[in-house]
Amino acid sequence: MTQITLIPGDGIGPEITEAVKAIFSAANVPVTWEEENAGQTTFDAKGELLPATLLASLEKNKVALKGPITTPVGKGFKSINVQLRQMYDLYANVRPAKTTPGITSRFENVNLVLFRENTEGLYSGLEIFDERLQIADSISRVTKIGCEKIVRAAFEYADRHGCKKVTVAHKANILKHAGAMLLSVSKEIAKDYPNIQMEDKIIDNMCMQLVMKPEQFDVIVTTNLFGDILSDLCAGLVGGLGVVSGANIGDNMAIFEAVHGSAPDIAGKGLANPTALLRSAIMMLHHIDLKDYAYKIETALDATLAHKEECTGDLGGSASTKEFTQNIIAKL
Ligand code: NAI
Ligand code: MG
Repeated sequence: MTQITLIPGDGIGPEITEAVKAIFSAANVPVTWEEENAGQTTFDAKGELLPATLLASLEKNKVALKGPITTPVGKGFKSINVQLRQMYDLYANVRPAKTTPGITSRFENVNLVLFRENTEGLYSGLEIFDERLQIADSISRVTKIGCEKIVRAAFEYADRHGCKKVTVAHKANILKHAGAMLLSVSKEIAKDYPNIQMEDKIIDNMCMQLVMKPEQFDVIVTTNLFGDILSDLCAGLVGGLGVVSGANIGDNMAIFEAVHGSAPDIAGKGLANPTALLRSAIMMLHHIDLKDYAYKIETALDATLAHKEECTGDLGGSASTKEFTQNIIAKL
């Protein structure tokens, strides 16, 4: 049995984590859950956004599944997602986007994986505000070692999965230092993978190519801010944030998460779609080498998604979260 830290999160978080737990248990997946929450719920209960008990659980189990978290609005509340990524050096944000039969989108054959650097760049937290002059600086710090880690992760993934091409998205023509580093490091690392083609695209062109001809991409690697934007753009190519998975992976820990928010407008109503979290949980099963269980659950999920009427309202169906979950379980 592998023990996993389970962070239910806020809003619809508990409903979609219950769905994943039910499906895992019906599929006899050999994992146990250690539940530790964070966010608005723990803040209201004990004044802690990121409780020490959660951190201890993460440090012990090293693998977690996380529901969406509400970061309270106001000064001094740092995003929990950003904190976890920086505390544990979860440098690779991995976001697959694949067309699924049954899920409405504009394209038919999208199958790509985006590797976003997750700890540096414009999100380094190096922010200076000169009150008197009213000048704001947000410094984009990019390190060679940081570039090497994310580019290596992308090529390793491409190599393991038989992908033919890695596309480096950058703005090296304008950002002479922070932008150029990713590109020069990529050219070096690509030499270690003679069977994988490396191409580079300037970020603005990359955006146009992605919305016009996304089928041409395989693995994409980019820096933090560009990756944040591109990852949601890619989700939009295959049906949106409600159906795509995401993972934050470091050398010593990995947190798999729903990439959508806590959806307070539908929380507690039995309307939430658990697909995004379930797909992240399937990625997690690959990560901990329980691949047979991953394929089994994925097959049942895809078979359910192919029938709109068996799905939740956001996918065009009329099933509740629980009914959708049961429909998946029935196909295991
Ligand atoms: P949201 O993703 O929560 O909701 C946007 C729209 O999508 C809403 O209409 C919602 O009902 C719908 N939606 C989202 N997930 C759904 C699902 N699984 N099934 C069916 N419908 C779904 O984004 P919003 O409203 O901007 O943010 C709400 C809260 O979530 C904020 O407090 C924000 O900070 C937090 N948030 C947390 C994230 C995380 O923990 N990873 C990511 C994004 C936002
Ligand atoms: Mg984002």
